[in-house]
Amino acid sequence: MSETEVHASVDDAARAQRGRRLHVITWGCQMNAYDSARMADLLAAHGFTETGAAEEADLVILNTCHIREHATEKVFSELGRLRQLKEARARAGRPTLIALAGCVAQAEGEEILRRAPYVDVVVGPQVYHRLPELLAARAGGGAVIATDFPADSKFEALPANGAGQSRRRVSAFLTIQEGCDKFCTFCVVPYTRGAEASRPARSILAEAKALLAQGVREIVLLGQNVNAWEGEGLDGRPWRLARLLEALAALEGLVRLRYTTSHPCDMDEALIAAHRDIPALAPFLHLPVQSGSDRVLKAMNRRHGVRDYLTLVERLRRARPDIALSSDFIVGFPGETAADFEATLALARAVGFAQAYSFKYSPRPGTPAAEATDQVPEAEKAARLAALQDVLGESQRDFNQKTVGRRLPVLFTGPGRHPGQIAGRSPYQQAVHAEGPARLIGTLAEVEISAAEAHSLRGSLSPPAEP
Ligand code: 5AD
Ligand code: SF4
Repeated sequence: MSETEVHASVDDAARAQRGRRLHVITWGCQMNAYDSARMADLLAAHGFTETGAAEEADLVILNTCHIREHATEKVFSELGRLRQLKEARARAGRPTLIALAGCVAQAEGEEILRRAPYVDVVVGPQVYHRLPELLAARAGGGAVIATDFPADSKFEALPANGAGQSRRRVSAFLTIQEGCDKFCTFCVVPYTRGAEASRPARSILAEAKALLAQGVREIVLLGQNVNAWEGEGLDGRPWRLARLLEALAALEGLVRLRYTTSHPCDMDEALIAAHRDIPALAPFLHLPVQSGSDRVLKAMNRRHGVRDYLTLVERLRRARPDIALSSDFIVGFPGETAADFEATLALARAVGFAQAYSFKYSPRPGTPAAEATDQVPEAEKAARLAALQDVLGESQRDFNQKTVGRRLPVLFTGPGRHPGQIAGRSPYQQAVHAEGPARLIGTLAEVEISAAEAHSLRGSLSPPAEP
């Protein structure tokens, strides 16, 4: 097909697609949530409106996650359901396209087309800006697969972040970095998302300004290795994350900044100091440690030891005494002994995380640890996970309880559970509910915390707002 023919068929397809409905199912990390929203923005420009009901959809996108085993299983069970739906709609004369996106598409796209030939388009995370063209190509023939890592950035080809969304958002994600060069021995990310790549500061600041103009007040910077971000600054000099945060914090309308996920080895001095110096930067950091055993950390190729992590935590707390930490843990990594696991429990207790995610090790095809012969039995992994989650749960409850009686700046993001209530987030990512007028949504207000419930805090505005 010639270049002009491609454009002609894209335009024809765009016309034919007007008034069509799109349903997006998203699994996995926050970057997938961001990518799903950007795909919806892109397809809105081609006439698609989003629907929450898969039965109504002319196009269903599955944005998938490959990080652990059961994620792929979930994709197959969802595909089975969609196949039936597609067949039922076809009988009613309504064709349905199924697009598989995300990291499972990247890693197993061809295999999935073999096992699920009713999938129409497979698109990897680096090329979803080509979706309209891929859908048009599908209309003219067989299934289409695009999983390359192009040299040019998809971000420049996408419409503005939020362009297709009707709902007003207070908090928005903004991807600044993708991929990973760390090659932890358990992880598929370096293979599915590719090598570390940072977006230029100019492009990030432009996207941030557009979000703030839409009423966004909190920006969450995303990257698989977000604190490895480096790029050409506005002054033409190389910038690292601390300098970018400073530039973002200076933008009019911005109330709160966060960034996730960070690798301990990339927390440089300037970034630690940014937590002291930038008031908009939330005193909360997700800093995965994975294990509390030096032996296991080494086998994981984490490139740091327990002491390094604890020293880093101390430096962060010195810079910002009220900083709260969150983490990721893996239990049952190959060769993990009972003593290694005890060391993980000890680290969790020593740090006192405000929040944490913990997982049983899941062997991923193509990663070095999957080849190890000393795999930990499933029952042992389950027992260790339960024990770790007890410790982490207690530490989270403790942290929440300690906020009772404090006054916290809460960014209100929407209505609460009951009439007259509004809901938002504390600086530490806790959900907070308070009685208050809807006009406070989108603003930061002081709340005196009165109670810590299982998954949220309750409090009252201080001083109480006029109705
Ligand atoms: N098995 C279990 N957990 C994993 N993670 C990444 N790969 C695996 C795996 N193979 C966890 C890590 C990472 C988080 C995003 O997912 O804890 O930080
Ligand atoms: Fe995976 Fe390790 Fe890279 Fe994180 S730092 S994405 S765990 S390889």
